Parts: sequence; C-alpha cells; structure tokens
Amino acid sequence: MLKVNDINVFYGNIQALKGVSLEVKEGEIVTLIGANGAGKSTLLKTLSGLLKPKTGTIEYMGKVVSGKVPQAIVKAGISHVPEGRRVFSNMSVEENLELGAFTRKNSREIREDLAKVYELFPRLLERRKQLSGTLSGGEQQMLAMGRAIMAKPKLLLLDEPSMGLAPLMVKQIFNIIEQINKAGTTVLLVEQNANMALSVADRAYVIETGRIGLNGTAAELQASEDIKKAYLGGA
Ligand SMILES: Nc1ncnc2c1ncn2[C@@H]1O[C@H](COP(=O)(O)OP(=O)(O)OP(=O)(O)O)[C@@H](O)[C@H]1O
Ligand SMILES: [Mg+2]
Repeated sequence: MLKVNDINVFYGNIQALKGVSLEVKEGEIVTLIGANGAGKSTLLKTLSGLLKPKTGTIEYMGKVVSGKVPQAIVKAGISHVPEGRRVFSNMSVEENLELGAFTRKNSREIREDLAKVYELFPRLLERRKQLSGTLSGGEQQMLAMGRAIMAKPKLLLLDEPSMGLAPLMVKQIFNIIEQINKAGTTVLLVEQNANMALSVADRAYVIETGRIGLNGTAAELQASEDIKKAYLGGA
C-alpha cells in the first residue's frame, strides 16, 4: 500500500531523514519507534505532503505521491493525526469532526461516518457541543483521531497518540486503534511507548537519528535484547 524509497529530507542544511525506506501493506498496523528527535514526526509530515523529500520517492497504491500537496494526499486516502493533536480550540467537537470531511462531498455518507465516529468515541457524542479547547488531553486525542477518520482514510498516520495520557486512557486509545484497523483501515503508528506500540502492531521499524535501524515483526522486536535495553525499559 505504501512504499517509501530511500528518502532524504532536510530542514535547511540539517538532514532529518537519511535514506529512509519502509513499507506498509494493506491491513497492517506498522509501528515506527525511536527516541526524541530521531525523525519520526518528520517522516509522517513527509508522507502527508507537509514536507517534500529532496531525493527519493513515496508510492501509495502504486502511484508516486511525493510532491503532491497535502489536500491531494488526504483525498487519495491518507490522513495524519499530528503530534500534539492540534484541534481547533474555539470550535465545537462536532465542528472539528465536520472539518475532517472537508475533501468530501456526499453529505449522507458524511453523516453516516459522523455517527460511526460517535459510536467509536461515545465520549465525543456526550461532548459534541463543547468547545474543543476545553476537552481533556485524552478527549482531544479522540477528537483528533475522529477528525482524521472523517476524511475516510485507507491509511491512518498517528503521531504519538499516547503522549501525556494516563495509563488507562492509553489503553483505551490503543484499543480504539485496533478497532479502527479491524474495520479496514491500515495504520502507521509512531510511538515512544514501544511496549504498547509493539503489543498492537504486526511489524515495526526502529528509527535512530534519521536512519532506519532494526525492523521485523512486532514479536521479533519484542524479543530482541537490544530493543529491550533501549526501548522497553531494561532487560
Ligand atoms: N522545523 C524544523 N526546523 C529545523 N529542524 C527541525 C524542524 N523540525 C524538526 N527538526 C529537527 O529534525 C530532527 C527530527 O525531528 P522530529 O520532530 O522528526 O523527531 P521525532 O522523532 O518526532 O521526535 P519526538 O519524539 O521528540 O517527537 C530533530 O533533530 C529536530 O530538531
Ligand atoms: Mg515527534
């Protein structure tokens, strides 16, 4: 479904991604784990068209999408839930969700999908009229995910959905990620919470200072001594 071929991405003179290649197959949950500053968010921003690779290509469903504008990429079926959620604080929950459907036209389908989002996140239904800026962190994460789903993505990019959330909320968010995946959406999940990420993922890549290091099935990485030491909190 997604094929990243040897991309190099720069901020001015600083190279943030160095020859990154990876693949996501339809139906998978693939996780990208790595430390602060490794280049995880940069990769997701490049996939969603916010940054352009200097060299290398990104293929999605057999077509090169690197170089396309973000709106065209959303329309093609890739939705990005950015790090830090970025909901529109002065708009209600429902207005934020409706905005997620900005590239779509069929209002009956949009209404049906809104109902599905509320089914997935009952908390958002309870709070549909509330200003988004007054939601809790976990609720804002739900809203950011719900808004991305309103674009009807085939591939969902999630940037650290567990960040800053209490363990119980993290568990809920990961459960929902699995539900979204079972309902047919492919997921690329960026996480620092490697334990949780590997527990839901099929496969994983490790990124270290802009380069892909280890990759394998989630089970292989969970069993790796290096990964245990560096990312899973000890031996
Ligand atoms: N707008 C920018 N201008 C210059 N350098 C940037 C910019 N954004 C990111 N960087 C640099 O690129 C590198 C990768 O950053 P990135 O945000 O992709 O890391 P990350 O893996 O998402 O980290 P974190 O886990 O802290 O979110 C870092 O060294 C960062 O300082
Ligand atoms: Mg980041």
